[in-house]
Amino acid sequence: MELQEAIANRRSVKIFKRDMTIDDDALYKAIKQATDAPNHGLREPWRVVHIAKDRLGDMSKQLSEIAFPNLQKKQQNHYEVATHLGGMLALIVKEDPRQKENLENHMAFGAFAQNLMLLLHEAGIGTCWKSPAYIFTPEIRELFGVKDDEKLVGLLYLTDLEDELPHRERHFNEIIEKF
Ligand SMILES: Cc1cc2nc3c(=O)[nH]c(=O)nc-3n(C[C@H](O)[C@H](O)[C@H](O)COP(=O)(O)O)c2cc1C
Repeated sequence: MELQEAIANRRSVKIFKRDMTIDDDALYKAIKQATDAPNHGLREPWRVVHIAKDRLGDMSKQLSEIAFPNLQKKQQNHYEVATHLGGMLALIVKEDPRQKENLENHMAFGAFAQNLMLLLHEAGIGTCWKSPAYIFTPEIRELFGVKDDEKLVGLLYLTDLEDELPHRERHFNEIIEKF
């Protein structure tokens, strides 16, 4: 697949109405290949926790009790969506106490994540990066084993690519200014 084609056609998949499966070997291969992203000092400030298909239900129950206490409907809805997925990745960036290095780490993580989403798209796996407010809570961080010097920056929902996805148009007329 052409790089430009992958960039143009990758879309965030937000339809989770069917049961979906993905190829975990292809997923692991893409994660390894995505690490060729630029990262200053080669600090490689990324790691992921893979919640495989057979662990999604268990994860959802634990996550929902923390994120939506006493909200049965929300818990049920999360369970339905989560168990329909082909898997999920908890996205974890290494934090640095130094301001410059910390910025570099977060930017490098973004490059890693885009590499990963493009490679997965090429491999026939859809993605949606989710950043719900509960990822910042200590209990959810603990659920995914996030360490004190790390930040949980999202959950990558993994899907198949069978649905038609809308292209959310970009606006590039005013993004380039001549110096
Ligand atoms: C850092 C980041 C966080 C995101 N968080 C969410 C989210 O919480 N929920 C969601 O539905 N989509 C989320 N998205 C997906 C964007 O909303 C999506 O990229 C945007 O709608 C453009 O659609 P496209 O990726 O299909 O072009 C996130 C994307 C990024 C890069």
